[in-house]
Amino acid sequence: MSIERFLTGITTSGTPHLGNYVGSIRPAVRASLRSGVTSFYFLADYHALIKVDEPALIQRSTLEIAASWLAAGLDPQRVVFYRQSDIPEIPELTWLLTCVLGKGVLNRAHAYKAAVDKNTGAGTDPDADVSAGLFMYPVLMGADILMFNAHKVPVGRDQVQHIEMARDMAHSFNHRYGEHFVAPDAVIEDNVATLPGLDGRKMSKSYNNTIPLFAPRAQLQKLITSIVTDSRAPGQPKSTEGSALFQIYQAFASAAESDALRQAFADGIAWGDAKQIVFERIDQEIAPMRACYLALLDDPAKIETILRTGAQKARAIATPFMTQLRHSVGLRNLALADLLASTKAGRVLLPVFKQYREPDGQFYFKLIGASGQLLLQSKAFASPKAAGQAIADLQARGLTALTELAHLVKPADAVPESDIAAALQTLMAAKAR
Ligand code: TRP
Repeated sequence: MSIERFLTGITTSGTPHLGNYVGSIRPAVRASLRSGVTSFYFLADYHALIKVDEPALIQRSTLEIAASWLAAGLDPQRVVFYRQSDIPEIPELTWLLTCVLGKGVLNRAHAYKAAVDKNTGAGTDPDADVSAGLFMYPVLMGADILMFNAHKVPVGRDQVQHIEMARDMAHSFNHRYGEHFVAPDAVIEDNVATLPGLDGRKMSKSYNNTIPLFAPRAQLQKLITSIVTDSRAPGQPKSTEGSALFQIYQAFASAAESDALRQAFADGIAWGDAKQIVFERIDQEIAPMRACYLALLDDPAKIETILRTGAQKARAIATPFMTQLRHSVGLRNLALADLLASTKAGRVLLPVFKQYREPDGQFYFKLIGASGQLLLQSKAFASPKAAGQAIADLQARGLTALTELAHLVKPADAVPESDIAAALQTLMAAKAR
């Protein structure tokens, strides 16, 4: 019944380049425009701390990446766009997940194992220069995903193992404490192009062969001119096969435009002229975004506001969910101990859902707490079945469901959210027994 949730994070440890744009930013912005999905995009700045220990660089990169996504058309009204470190529930959940994940699983994580293998090969201590942050990286990522019960996580192949670990954490937690988490699926973006860089290898910061996404026009032209080609002279036919220049063009051009350039290659276009065509085509797509990007960089306060608004939307989900999770593991309001003990002893002291029909012919329900106080009041439902379904959903998934059903069910005035969480949790626990 719930809308499918997509979530992805971008580590804030660099300046976006054309490869990031073609491989991740552009497809993600397009996907965010689909209807029937809720998309979560966040700046993974806690993850950046694992790689980068220059504070100014973290700040700059966070600004540049946020501006890039916005300039590329991400609409913060349509999606939940936030900064990881604005959500204190994420490190809190990280700890709960740390306690259900086997250490051996982390020992086998690719990134950690690669570091250990390298050290072992060099004859040094296996954990030399390996921070506990690197070791824990997959748990933080699991918390990112499970915090919002994302169904689908679009990632590159290198991240698939992390999604499997998130599934592992979801299962272990659910097994111990009840069904709280959705097990996420990786969505592998195989159909999006991997862009070659200036030297023909994959465009990547680690190869130092990148073209910054929003390089000024003159610099963009200079960089495109420096893309490697073979030494064929003007007039000699040229092959598109294995041509980095042609591949980069294809990532921006229409099929007809690509065909035309292929023909020009066959007809022996000079490399300089081909590069000019590629440059103009890329600049045509990038120039309007570049203008928007520069305007955003000039107004960092605006970006800060957008991110804080996004964090509010994210926390509207995370805060009540964390309340529920804390309760589920036993981090509880001590005044509730009696209530739980008495339900265990079989006395009827449970909150109840009451369904009823009003003279308007519509169907309604309320949640009444164990001591008779009104906790939740529903709006009108057209059928008893629809009302029953909402109740079943609340009973099965607690506050998470309440967040999704916010348009149908409202907390009674002045009732603290933690009371509602506790009542729903009590029902969930009673059902599990
Ligand atoms: N690890 C991801 C990367 O380096 C970034 C990331 C952090 C992420 N948390 C996430 C991606 C959660 C997807 C979901 O690319």
